[in-house]
Amino acid sequence: MSWKQQFGQQFEGLKVLVTGGAGFIGSNLVEVLLGLGAEVTCLDNFATGFHYNIATFKTHPSFRLIEGDIRNAAHCAEACNGQHLVFHQAALGSVPRSINDPQTTNEVNISGFLNMLVASRDAGVKRFIYAASSSTYGDSESLPKVEEKIGKPLSPYAVTKYVNELYADVFARTYGLESIGLRYFNVFGRRQDPNGAYAAVIPKWVMQLLRLQSPVINGAGDYSRDFTYVDNVIQANLLAATTKNDEAVNQVFNVAYGDRTTLNQLATALKTILAEYKPAIAAVEIVHGPYRQGDIPHSLASVEKARRLLGYNPQYDLYKGLSEACQWYVGNLV
Ligand SMILES: NC(=O)c1ccc[n+]([C@@H]2O[C@H](COP(=O)([O-])OP(=O)(O)OC[C@H]3O[C@@H](n4cnc5c(N)ncnc54)[C@H](O)[C@@H]3O)[C@@H](O)[C@H]2O)c1
Repeated sequence: MSWKQQFGQQFEGLKVLVTGGAGFIGSNLVEVLLGLGAEVTCLDNFATGFHYNIATFKTHPSFRLIEGDIRNAAHCAEACNGQHLVFHQAALGSVPRSINDPQTTNEVNISGFLNMLVASRDAGVKRFIYAASSSTYGDSESLPKVEEKIGKPLSPYAVTKYVNELYADVFARTYGLESIGLRYFNVFGRRQDPNGAYAAVIPKWVMQLLRLQSPVINGAGDYSRDFTYVDNVIQANLLAATTKNDEAVNQVFNVAYGDRTTLNQLATALKTILAEYKPAIAAVEIVHGPYRQGDIPHSLASVEKARRLLGYNPQYDLYKGLSEACQWYVGNLV
């Protein structure tokens, strides 16, 4: 089903702000919202986003770019002015980045988040939908992860994402600002940056395999994750924006596929898919290094709450998502 079939005219003429709209998830959200007839403003400081991610919509008559920083309250106020909805995606991602520089992560992810809440409240925004994170489950070992049962955060990044949830809840109680938090689990797909020290595992391995280099698995490859294709995440955002279910408002939801894949299985799947484009990839060896400190062994989401209250119905399992993502990397970055 296309986005138009699923969401009809619900976004037509709506004024929406996507912070972090030049990043991986944000730029995908901007593209879909423009396709659904929304008037989209993107606020981004290009810390980890790129102009080429938004190049194709820059000339769209309903697209506006504000090059600004969420740490600056005036930039947030300008961006929120007149908006019906805010999709807050801007943040500094990556657990290792937050361990190397906790202060900058804190400034962007907590102070920047608070600025966005204040600006949204003052502008009379109808609903504030924000990117939360599976890192909030911290050291909890129970599987699958259910929203109400979290552990202790294992990194500065996880602290910031948990504090976001606390602030959003307090803004709902204190000022009546409607919000919905979406705890994303290991998202992947088109436009995710494969480069740099903090690149995510899927784009990094895709680019290494396409260059016939060996991907390195931290540990034996038995650790598992609930890898989530970006279109499942877009669906959750659009449902959160349009839901009329009062029970769903001021809640947090897991956003994942609801299945887990080990790193060994992931590497094998990527080799199989990419070998269709470049047969020599089938012979590339997978290398194993030491386990990375702080990595939790397994992550798997229950998506029952999102199914029940939002009508979430993820369309992409891992293999289908990987096939689309690989096709994009081969067509765009090689
Ligand atoms: N990718 C994942 O697997 C994942 C998992 C859980 C949560 N998240 C969250 O989803 C959101 C989007 O992540 P992504 O993977 O698209 O990352 P990304 O780095 O591609 O996008 C983040 C965007 O925010 C922008 N940004 C950063 N600091 C900013 C600032 N101070 N002011 C304005 N803009 C700023 C960046 O330039 C970038 O365009 C983030 O909040 C992230 O924490 C992502």
